[in-house]
Amino acid sequence: MEIGFGNGEHLAAIARQRPGWGCLGAEVHTPGVGSLLLQLLETGTNNVRIVHDDVVTWLQTLPEALLQCIIIQFPDPWPKKRQQKRRLIQPDFAALLCRLLVPGGELQMATDWADYAEQMLAILNATPGLQNTQPDAGYAPRPDNRILTRFERRGQRLGHAVHDLCYRRLT
Ligand SMILES: C[S@@+](CC[C@H](N)C(=O)[O-])C[C@H]1O[C@@H](n2cnc3c(N)ncnc32)[C@H](O)[C@@H]1O
Repeated sequence: MEIGFGNGEHLAAIARQRPGWGCLGAEVHTPGVGSLLLQLLETGTNNVRIVHDDVVTWLQTLPEALLQCIIIQFPDPWPKKRQQKRRLIQPDFAALLCRLLVPGGELQMATDWADYAEQMLAILNATPGLQNTQPDAGYAPRPDNRILTRFERRGQRLGHAVHDLCYRRLT
């Protein structure tokens, strides 16, 4: 599952490369959903289901241990101090993601905002049931599946470094 897939370029690529997977994407922004649908149509990709809704509310309705992999790339950074409570990655949301992963399932995140990366690392490292895949419990190498998206290109223009994070649900 990819949460906040933006214009869907990553989800479309991953679904195309892995036709045996059942992929799920969530996005609130209607043009992004349209863009993903168009890419799926043009490439004849039929292993993706889309949730066009606020993912937080929707995920709460799902049963435990459903997903093999959850990916969140470049969540909205809300850089101003007074807006940071709107950031998606919060302790309760991390606990929800952990509950939805199958044991051994993988959680991948990436951000180009250094202070958000630190916040994610602190929250996820402290989430019971999640284990950082890195021996030093720090940032992970870039995963093979992560292609260069519009938001990473934007970060590059701003001179931001990207931080990747990777966790597994403990069995
Ligand atoms: C900065 S964009 C990154 C898009 C994409 N992941 C990429 O790397 O190009 C963050 C995306 O998350 C979506 N988003 C934010 N909160 C969401 C929520 N609660 N449910 C679903 N999508 C959400 C936004 O609409 C936006 O498209």
